[in-house]
Amino acid sequence: MLFLQDPAESKLQRLFQRVVSHLHRLTFSLTFPLYEWLYLLWSCPEMLPSLWRILSFSWGRDPYTAITRMPHDLREHRHPDDLVYGEIILPTFDRILRSLQLGATDRFVDLGCGRGRLVMMAAARGIRAHGIELVPLHLRCAKYAASPYLPLASFEQADILQADLSQATVFWASGTCWSDPLREQIAARIAQLLPNTRVISVSSPLPHPQLETLCTFYGWTTWGRDAFFLQRVLPKPQEALPPASFPSLGT
Ligand SMILES: C[S@@+](CC[C@H](N)C(=O)[O-])C[C@H]1O[C@@H](n2cnc3c(N)ncnc32)[C@H](O)[C@@H]1O
Repeated sequence: MLFLQDPAESKLQRLFQRVVSHLHRLTFSLTFPLYEWLYLLWSCPEMLPSLWRILSFSWGRDPYTAITRMPHDLREHRHPDDLVYGEIILPTFDRILRSLQLGATDRFVDLGCGRGRLVMMAAARGIRAHGIELVPLHLRCAKYAASPYLPLASFEQADILQADLSQATVFWASGTCWSDPLREQIAARIAQLLPNTRVISVSSPLPHPQLETLCTFYGWTTWGRDAFFLQRVLPKPQEALPPASFPSLGT
């Protein structure tokens, strides 16, 4: 049976979809900052001055269009999806961070740290944290926001495929939009590191046989609810490794 599309109805549907999409964006852009501020006020006030500086720096410098102001030579030969921007909501990150039970000997590295919010949150929790990012505007924002308040946070403008990764014990990879080649290459780099080095990868696990998935968390990002995969580097066949301890599963 053939159903002819009613043009009036489809116009109405399109209008409805646009309204829903605007409402969705409005809800996200109002609710999440409010949720974050209240959460941090209650549980991590050390983070608030830096968060305020991120906001003031980003006024008129939208992080979502930062790549359009990026030097052409840095953009050249890159897959357009690799530099798509988005952020993890801080209470979600904080919950995952705490379940990792990091200590003084750990070093957290955010691969593609954007404006550096996760690095700052980890530093505010007393963890040495480092962010690597290619887009200069993000880096300027991160350094401006962190430097006066969070001495445990550091940042570097570099390509994650070339930067020195050897000092990290835990990586964060918000690579939801990264192209397959970028995901495969960064997975191969991490797989070469010391056994038990951990990585949290957003949306899907990093693809490499030396990376074992330990557990999955669920939480909020600026693009909606998503999955977070905790992986660790397996020992090479001749190396022995203590049994993995599993953090409690998030909901
Ligand atoms: C989705 S954003 C994540 C921001 C932050 N990590 C967070 O989760 O809130 C991904 C970031 O990876 C950066 N990126 C992509 N490819 C990169 C590369 N080869 N080297 C360094 N940074 C890269 C992008 O510029 C972007 O800022």
